[in-house]
Amino acid sequence: MYTNMTNSSLRAAITVPSLRQRKTDAAKIAVLTCYDASFAAHFDAAGIDAVLVGDSLGMVIQGQASTLPVTLDHMVYHTAAVSRGLHAPLLIADMPFMSYRDVPTALASASRLLAEGGAAMVKVEGAGWVLDVITALSERDVPVCAHLGLTPQSVHKLGGYRVQGKLADEAKRLLDDSHAVAKAGAELLVLECVPAELAARITGEIPIPTIGIGAGPGCDGQVLVLYDMLGITPGRRPRFSKDFLRGHDSIDAALTAYVEAVHSSTFPAPEHTY
Ligand code: KIV
Repeated sequence: MYTNMTNSSLRAAITVPSLRQRKTDAAKIAVLTCYDASFAAHFDAAGIDAVLVGDSLGMVIQGQASTLPVTLDHMVYHTAAVSRGLHAPLLIADMPFMSYRDVPTALASASRLLAEGGAAMVKVEGAGWVLDVITALSERDVPVCAHLGLTPQSVHKLGGYRVQGKLADEAKRLLDDSHAVAKAGAELLVLECVPAELAARITGEIPIPTIGIGAGPGCDGQVLVLYDMLGITPGRRPRFSKDFLRGHDSIDAALTAYVEAVHSSTFPAPEHTY
């Protein structure tokens, strides 16, 4: 029987301002993806700071080849489930493919994720035309997490899932885009598959916390896909991930080890970075 009464109810809730404070205090932020209420309750107890209901659920839950088939209804369903299991961690929900294609659509989509799903923040991929969406949401007090580098919703244009920002012109664009999303009002920035040196430079220059996935130890926090860090995603584990269940005898122990490794900056190690 599932119960959401855990010790974590005693932890202070993580808020958008408290995440900013973590950057000021140089205190690392541990984020993990989650898709259901039972895992959410364990995350809460393990001390995870923020939980992302990622559209990665299309791949790891639904078995799709990409995140593109994920719908807003899927995201609302999983976000609401996670929210029932959580108390302290900040809940971030992905805006799925085409759900923020223009400002009116983005406002309608975000309002479902907050009102029906219980999210406290929404995540959008990219800069350029997405900046107007970030501004519109932020002006309406919807906290936004931006996502740059490898943006999986652009997989066809990018030509695959690979490291971004290795060439000088790409690196310059990523740096400029990072400043632009912060200026547009984003509160958090996920950097995915970006060379460690570039991610550290971005982190040092922008005022909002960066959360890396395959972006090295210089980010303000880290995020992993839950099933990757439990070693149960079928196929080859990405280089940037680590199986935290290996060497631990329970999921709780693996989650706690992840939180400790992020907070103490022992994860990611050089073998997880580009
Ligand atoms: O969908 C997702 O899980 C994500 C993370 C990989 C950052 O966007």
